[in-house]
Amino acid sequence: MLEAGKVPIYEPGLDQLMAKNVAAGRLTFSGDLKSAVQGADAVFIAVGTPTRRGDGHADLTFVFAAAEEIAGAIDGYTVVVTKSTVPLGTNRRVKQVILKANPDAEFDVASNPEFLREGAAIDDFMRPDRVIVGVQSERAAEVMQDVYRPLFLRDFPIVTTDLESAEMIKYAANAFLATKITFINEIAALCEKVGADVKQVSKGMGLDGRIGNKFLHAGPGYGGSCFPKDTSALARIGQELAVPMQITETVIKVNDEIKRRMIEKLRDLCEGSFNGKTIAILGVTFKPNTDDMRDAPSLTIVPALVGGGAKVRVVDPQGMREGEALLPGVNWMQDAYKAAQNADLLVILTEWNEFRALDLKKIAKKMARPRLADLRNIYSAKDAKRAGFEAYDAVGR
Ligand code: UDX
Repeated sequence: MLEAGKVPIYEPGLDQLMAKNVAAGRLTFSGDLKSAVQGADAVFIAVGTPTRRGDGHADLTFVFAAAEEIAGAIDGYTVVVTKSTVPLGTNRRVKQVILKANPDAEFDVASNPEFLREGAAIDDFMRPDRVIVGVQSERAAEVMQDVYRPLFLRDFPIVTTDLESAEMIKYAANAFLATKITFINEIAALCEKVGADVKQVSKGMGLDGRIGNKFLHAGPGYGGSCFPKDTSALARIGQELAVPMQITETVIKVNDEIKRRMIEKLRDLCEGSFNGKTIAILGVTFKPNTDDMRDAPSLTIVPALVGGGAKVRVVDPQGMREGEALLPGVNWMQDAYKAAQNADLLVILTEWNEFRALDLKKIAKKMARPRLADLRNIYSAKDAKRAGFEAYDAVGR
């Protein structure tokens, strides 16, 4: 697919960027590792590190297989860079794997964790808050500085550290962000009980420069390819080294509870039972502008509705390709208005732009029972009431 100029995932702008660089001769793809590695100054390992079934560990099989193959192809000083998210200590192991496979190889290893958000990956790459480079030698640091020179020249901070610190920065940053989201989600639950509005609370908290306003949006719990995997790997490492990551462990547990709390919200809106109800779900990917379904809250919420006897309709601009197999028993529909026809409940689960400016009046008229669960806090109780909804619920308000 890549050789034919096709991007196998949905990431806004990536197809054009790829086509432009292929046309300019700066980017080529090959299945032949040896020819790609020979003569390279730096080789990036960017293979998957999925959570291993059963024990929560990151599965490093692909990383070590890549390292071993690279070892055989190195012909002159090369920096082997790990871009994949790997547990602490993996880069040293990559070094051992290469040394064992090719004791004469002239190389260094480097850790260069990625902080790209899906859906905003290009912008995050072009305008990073920082680039982290973990190395063991001055020579490797120089090669990495060359690689990132265009960003360095534009004053983006390139932070050089030792290998272990670079590996740790990635886990610590993601666990911290997951904690921040989970913290506000927990505060949201309390806001509902005391009559506070979590949107106002987030704003008031976030204006404190020490806290910051980002990642304080309450919702149905975090998902995606990074936060669930990285928090679970960090918790495992902590347990193994007898330094339990108690905060992270709690975050994982609370995030699971938050997803389940959403199911109870929906059940309340359905007067205690999903049985026989028609429910329209808007958005099932873990966040907008991606087709990624990994650990999406929809994977917990939708099966509970189907299992409870509801007829579930799903609308998602990009989610169907992956979602079809993951969400059995649902009806995929083209747009929100069709999905709302004769429905008993409408649920906004992922905040795609096209769900941000719905004609609520038109939707309410079509529904059998106009009830709205706004799990991303896009609308307000006032909007819903004005549009003719008989019930509205959001998160933390
Ligand atoms: C994340 C990190 O942001 C990125 O730095 C890292 O490299 C990979 O993991 P990503 O998973 O693509 O990126 O998405 P992100 O935008 O961080 O959102 C993660 C999850 O948190 C989503 O489920 C999102 O809906 C949720 N979220 C995010 C909230 O619920 N509230 C927020 O305020 C922010």
